[in-house]
Amino acid sequence: MENPPETMFESAFAEDTYKGLTSYPKYLLSKYIYDEKGDKLFQQIMDMPEYYLTQCEHNILEINAEAIIDEFDSKQGFDLIELGAGDGKKTKLLLKELVKRKSDFAYLPIDISQNVLTELEKSLTQEIPEVNVKVQQGTYFKTLEKLAEYNTRKKVILVLGSNIGNLLHERAVEFLANIAAAMSEDDMLFMGFDQKKHPQKILDAYNDAAGITEAFNKNLLIRINRELEGNFDPDKFLHWETYDPETGTAKSFLVSKAAQKVIIDKLDLEVKFDAWESIHTEISQKYDDAVVNWLAEEAGLKVERAFSDHEGCFKNYIFRKK
Ligand code: AVI
Repeated sequence: MENPPETMFESAFAEDTYKGLTSYPKYLLSKYIYDEKGDKLFQQIMDMPEYYLTQCEHNILEINAEAIIDEFDSKQGFDLIELGAGDGKKTKLLLKELVKRKSDFAYLPIDISQNVLTELEKSLTQEIPEVNVKVQQGTYFKTLEKLAEYNTRKKVILVLGSNIGNLLHERAVEFLANIAAAMSEDDMLFMGFDQKKHPQKILDAYNDAAGITEAFNKNLLIRINRELEGNFDPDKFLHWETYDPETGTAKSFLVSKAAQKVIIDKLDLEVKFDAWESIHTEISQKYDDAVVNWLAEEAGLKVERAFSDHEGCFKNYIFRKK
């Protein structure tokens, strides 16, 4: 079936899966890992000792909370808007500092998962009831449209966890440029970027001994089986991680252990795999200051300040509009 009409797909997931599995080389989009099971697996990943990113960023926020809030705070008050808020564990470090200072602010967490937001709201009510919180459900791109509506006072946009690393540079620039377009002169963007480091440390973070990252990637196959009536056997694929220290790109693959055919009923598709053929599932880009400055420049932003852990493992940058 070549160039099927767009109308034949029941969802963006169906269409993207069709495109990815009929391309050469084959790929699947990592954003589809995050269904209910994928969210739980990612939560487990963040608690793994090998996945240093979470702990590093937590340390940066814990140690620098006062200095960071000095940058955010404004006499006229401000809106703290978090994209992809998740469980808010790290953000709570900043919220506590803001409450301690009796700062005038509202916290507006946005996430694609309503479930995650309900839990976050509940935990905030219990742990920091002073916070004026207003959750919003939506995708990144819908959210960006809404961002510009917050223009009555200063806004600080928070994107933690090096989520930008799952985008190729071109799309990362697009994402940053969309944020920049919604910012006024006073506004700030506070964003986490995982840094280049010993390649083995990176490989270990994406190839844990317990197989949680493997299950996380294979969740794509399980989701295709469930939602698109596929018959992938996840055991016939192995999870493979690579890291290129020159480009700073970590890549995840599922590799077919044998020649095989997979049927996906709802796509009316038979996918043939040669032995050792790959499906590319995710990129996790690692950065240095030069690349972050270049991304910012391309997007119409400038780096104002950076916060780092002692080893330079991870950095949180403050950007302003250029
Ligand atoms: C969400 N994102 C920043 C994670 C990362 O590090 O690329 C997703 C992830 N993939 C495997 N482990 C974690």
